Amino acid sequence: MDILLEKAKNKHELTREELMAMLQPEYPLADLLSAADEVRKKYVGDEIHLRGLIEFSNFCKNNCLYCGLRRDNKQIQRYRIDIRTILELASHAKNMGLKTVVLQSGEDMWFSTEKMVEIIRGIKDMGLALTLSIGEKSREEYEAYRKAGADRFLIRIETTDKKLYEDNDPGMSWEKRRQCMLDLKELGFELGSGCLVGLPGQTLESLADDILFFKETSCDMIGIGPFIPHPMTPLKNAKGGKLEPALRVMALTRLLLPDINIPATTAMETLAPNGQTLALQGGANVIMPNVTLTAYRQHYQLYPGKTTTGYTPDESLKKVIAKIESLRRKVGSGAGQSPKWLKEQNTENK
Ligand code: 5AD
Ligand code: SF4
Repeated sequence: MDILLEKAKNKHELTREELMAMLQPEYPLADLLSAADEVRKKYVGDEIHLRGLIEFSNFCKNNCLYCGLRRDNKQIQRYRIDIRTILELASHAKNMGLKTVVLQSGEDMWFSTEKMVEIIRGIKDMGLALTLSIGEKSREEYEAYRKAGADRFLIRIETTDKKLYEDNDPGMSWEKRRQCMLDLKELGFELGSGCLVGLPGQTLESLADDILFFKETSCDMIGIGPFIPHPMTPLKNAKGGKLEPALRVMALTRLLLPDINIPATTAMETLAPNGQTLALQGGANVIMPNVTLTAYRQHYQLYPGKTTTGYTPDESLKKVIAKIESLRRKVGSGAGQSPKWLKEQNTENK
């Protein structure tokens, strides 16, 4: 076997140059995916953990050039789901057998710390694991969420190329985002991050750096998705990412961080009808069925063509379970923390 792949599979270490060699389109993708699949099986097993995704507000104060929810997009209808309905959606997710819900929104200042704490407490009282994906906040706010019981937090670094990040996310600071990740980790959250693949001007070097950054910041989960141009954004005419490079970055992430959770992302499925299936066969072990009310989904357009639009929570879950069964894998039976995070907790408590 190829020496690089052997090294990645056994040592889970690669240099920047080695990563770059494997990110080249000439390097066989099928070999990478099958090595990542082997490592996934060995470290996190055959279970696929489900996370019920609730997209509870599409208001955002930021203006990321790639995102359909950016504040300057006046063409979308904005919505906020009220607290009672959010709790009902979580309760429905629990009744359907889900063990984790993910609350996701744009950076919506209406949801104050007090309101978030109320929602977090309500969901934790149901006995669910809870992930937040609500953007950049102060350390004090993160601490309040953690104290209220939130377990995990997703905040993608999007790209480790500082200039590319700041060009694409006007008014935002890359250092601040990194600091958010460090704060979350220190506060004991299971930390999720990730990147976009295929942003205009993104290089293979920077993708290699992204993977090394995930390791360096001790991420517990990593979501990787292709950039998909949105017609109501300044990047509407950009070329957009392809599925293969995103799968490549995902497989390499699994090889270097063997015991983390990696979702098969909706953006991958948007680019190809079997995108998530390929991801689940190339290192991924998590899938996030959308449990938002059907009426709101069309308005939560980070990018166009999201495959979950138009379905009910029950239909979305059914489709995901069918996918898992067709792969002869199992739906996760517990909360599905990453083995990496669990190990860290054990060492800290000794
Ligand atoms: N294409 C793909 N992913 C996108 N996101 C935002 N806009 C797009 C797009 N056009 C991703 C970002 C963000 C996550 C919630 O959605 O990575 O972190
Ligand atoms: Fe807002 Fe997130 Fe979209 Fe940026 S990517 S505009 S922060 S929802």
